[in-house]
This record gives sequence, C-alpha cells and structure tokens, in this order.
Amino acid sequence: MKGIILAGGKGTRLYPMTKAVSKQLLPIYDKPLIYYPLSILMLASIREILVISTPKDIDDYKTLLGDGSKLGLKIEYAVQKEARGLADAFIIGEKFIGKDNVCLILGDNVFYGQNMTGVLEEAMSHKKGAVIFGYPVKDASSFGVVEFDENGKVLSIEEKPKSPKSNFAVPGLYFYDNKVVEIAKSIKPSSRGEIEITAVNNVYLKNNELYVTTMGRGMTWLDTGTPEGMLQASEFVQTIQDRQGFYISCIEEIAWRRGFITSEQLLELGAELKNTEYGKYLVSLVK
Ligand code: DAU
Repeated sequence: MKGIILAGGKGTRLYPMTKAVSKQLLPIYDKPLIYYPLSILMLASIREILVISTPKDIDDYKTLLGDGSKLGLKIEYAVQKEARGLADAFIIGEKFIGKDNVCLILGDNVFYGQNMTGVLEEAMSHKKGAVIFGYPVKDASSFGVVEFDENGKVLSIEEKPKSPKSNFAVPGLYFYDNKVVEIAKSIKPSSRGEIEITAVNNVYLKNNELYVTTMGRGMTWLDTGTPEGMLQASEFVQTIQDRQGFYISCIEEIAWRRGFITSEQLLELGAELKNTEYGKYLVSLVK
C-alpha cells in the first residue's frame, strides 16, 4: 500500500497566516500540521509516501522531511500546479502508485483516538474497492456527507450539500484499490471547477465497492480550516500531551515503536532537537 499526502492549495481561507507559508507547515501546538497526517500513514505501516504540494511550497516540505530515511520511510515529492481537486492526487501520483493500492490523506486533517491503529488495519484488510469514513459533526454542510439507511447501507454521498441528509461528514482519509487512478481520470470538474473526491467515491458506490466505516465518539477528528479550528486543535494537543506525558503524532516516536528506526537513530534525532521539550521527549523514550 502506498500513501499520498495532499498538501497543496492556496490556503486563502487562512490569509494572512498562509500568504507566505504553506498551510500544512503551520504549527498545531508544537509541530507542523503535516506531522499529524504523516503519523497516520506511519501508524498504518505505510512507508512509501508521496507528498504533493504547490511549485512554490514543495521545497519547504523537502527541507522538513527530506527523503524520509531518518524515519525509516521513503518520501517522494510531486508538484500540483493548480488546485484542480483532491482526485488530481491519483493522476499526479499515477507512476508512484504503480500497481499498488493507495491511501490518500489530506495534509490538514488531524486524527487522534485510542483505536486508530485498529481502524486503519480494518480499512486496509479490504483489498478491493474503496474504504472511507463517516464522522459525526454538528453541521456537516461544509464537508462530504454520507447518508445511511436504517441497516447502515450507504444511500448517497454529497459534497458540501446545503441541507445535509445526515450529520456524518467524510474525513480526509481514503483507501482505494488500484482502479482509483483510472476512475480519477474519468471525473469531470464540478461546478466549483474541481475533480472531486466525492465523485470518485460515488463511482465506487455505484459499483457496489464502497465501504464506509463510522468513527465513534472515542475518535477525534479536528478541523484546521479556520483560525479558531487551528487554535482549538493546538489546545487539544497541548492538553492531552501535558496531562498524559505522551505526545500526539510524534513521527519519530512512531518510527521507533514500529521498528522503522533503531534506538540509536532515535537518540540522534533527539540530539538534533536537544534544546526543546520535543527533543528531550525523544531521548526519554529510549531511557
Ligand atoms: O477535510 C475533509 C473534507 O475535505 C471532505 O469532507 C470533503 O469531501 C473534501 O472535498 C475536502 O473538502 P475541503 O473543502 O475541506 O477541501 P479543501 O479544498 O479545503 O482541500 C483540502 C486540503 O487539500 C487542503 O489542505 C488543500 C489541499 N488541496 C486541495 C485541493 C482542492 C490540494 O492540495 N490540492 C487541491 O487541488
């Protein structure tokens, strides 16, 4: 399974914060936003990852993450010239995906929850079709929205409906078989001019190959689309980390716990950050 992180877009809804800096590089408390989706791919044991961003920002991601070898990963990069839509990730990533299945995660999506690894394993156990998620929110109108019947069968998926048919939003985490590349190529731009991921999911739905897993209230999916959302996400991370002493989405820790890197390598990463609590945390894990 390959992984793609889509970290482009102009971030205009967060101007002036994102005028000079890519949104997914802004901090959520103590680490760049992109660490959170990257950590989810790593928890899923996906080690071949493509980061897609704009021509202007791509070099900043290379500076931050390099070729991934320090984390026991293989990270490649690709440019998206225009924000043509989420499904464009599979067209840009066609060569990278090759004959494999692929997981797409949006660079601005933050997940946290006790059974995250179990959720990911379950999703990856489907070798055919698509797996997406439904997450209950108060107002689903600014997301993809999935509607179920009383038996849990999916009836529809709509992108940003004015009157949502349910309160289940579709988070930015998607698992697809290899057909997604050809399906993405067949999608026509929507009224907002984008090739929509929701259109891709509707093709899988029509073919009876769409699995939707609902995430319960024990799972946290945070919105970072507004300044308030970013502040709330930062406060959430700070509160949990401060209370438990465990870090959320610490990519170096996950690499070590998953056996992608050795204790010596983790200590080296800690030494590079030794002036920070983050660096001290990495060192403390080994001790
Ligand atoms: O966050 C989940 C939602 O993400 C889903 O519920 C929706 O179905 C899905 O369409 C998407 O909605 P948004 O309107 O929130 O997507 P947005 O345009 O904000 O893009 C999400 C991220 O992907 C953002 O960080 C920018 C990046 N992006 C977006 C587009 C359209 C790209 O890198 N390239 C693109 O072409």
